[in-house]
Amino acid sequence: MTETSQGLAIITGASAGIGAVYADRLARRGYDLLLVARNETRLAALAERLEQATGRSAAILRADLADAAQVADLAERIESEKALTLLVNNAGMGLHGSLATSDASEVSQLLALNVVAPTLLARAAVRSFTKRGHGGIINLSSVLALAPERFEGTYSASKAFILNLTQGLARALQETDVRIQAVLPGATRTEIWERAGKDINSFPPEWVMEVDDLVDAALVGFDAGEIITIPPLSDEGEWNALQAARQAMVPNLSRREVAERYRVPA
Ligand SMILES: NC(=O)c1ccc[n+]([C@@H]2O[C@H](COP(=O)([O-])OP(=O)(O)OC[C@H]3O[C@@H](n4cnc5c(N)ncnc54)[C@H](OP(=O)(O)O)[C@@H]3O)[C@@H](O)[C@H]2O)c1
Repeated sequence: MTETSQGLAIITGASAGIGAVYADRLARRGYDLLLVARNETRLAALAERLEQATGRSAAILRADLADAAQVADLAERIESEKALTLLVNNAGMGLHGSLATSDASEVSQLLALNVVAPTLLARAAVRSFTKRGHGGIINLSSVLALAPERFEGTYSASKAFILNLTQGLARALQETDVRIQAVLPGATRTEIWERAGKDINSFPPEWVMEVDDLVDAALVGFDAGEIITIPPLSDEGEWNALQAARQAMVPNLSRREVAERYRVPA
């Protein structure tokens, strides 16, 4: 428990899994909390437990973040909440099937929850934090952003969006004291798998990280000032090499001349 208040952290998807562990760790670090999700009973039980354990205040907000109006209300609250110092954009879902076999309504829900909501909430936080000169945003992406061939494509694309958004915003914010981090978990033991009709126990056990380990590691990366944190990746040189290769290509990506191999034969 810490006596110094770190301000207010808003955590989306705080009723379970990764978000609930962030709530625990951030309260212990001295943040007051606003916990957001649909299941009010679970949110209230977590808030009560954390208030008793840490002495911090924990408010709850029942919101469906696949619903545009409810996202707009939360974005407005983020922009006007003077005590806010940290946004954890965590709520997310997977699909039951592939893009082709899932209901169109489930695909739309995934895009609303995994892409639209975190983007609009980050927008509100950036507007507020840049005005006040400080603040932090943690975005939950996934290692599947780097490995789309390993999954069905839609979920991984939504997580690649979050990675790209974070890298772009980090560049735009680099002269400010506003921090932004994307966390890329590998398979982590939470309900997300069961909710999408998948059995995480069918994976080799050495692939699956426990949720407490994931969040503790992600916060080590946040404290170190990382923009991208990949808790399961043991050789950070592999990530650095990928970024170096990308940066080397960037100056060659916009040209008046068509590349030689695409020239129409005379
Ligand atoms: N677990 C993994 O293997 C893994 C790997 C890579 C990335 N991630 C990412 O990590 C984040 C957290 O996932 P998790 O594994 O902790 O999942 P989880 O255990 O299923 O928890 C998801 C959280 O999001 C909330 N949520 C779901 N739909 C919502 C909606 N429409 N509106 C508001 N809140 C909603 C859920 O609460 P309610 O049901 O109460 O609304 C819950 O609190 C996600 O963005 C996920 O994509 C997870």
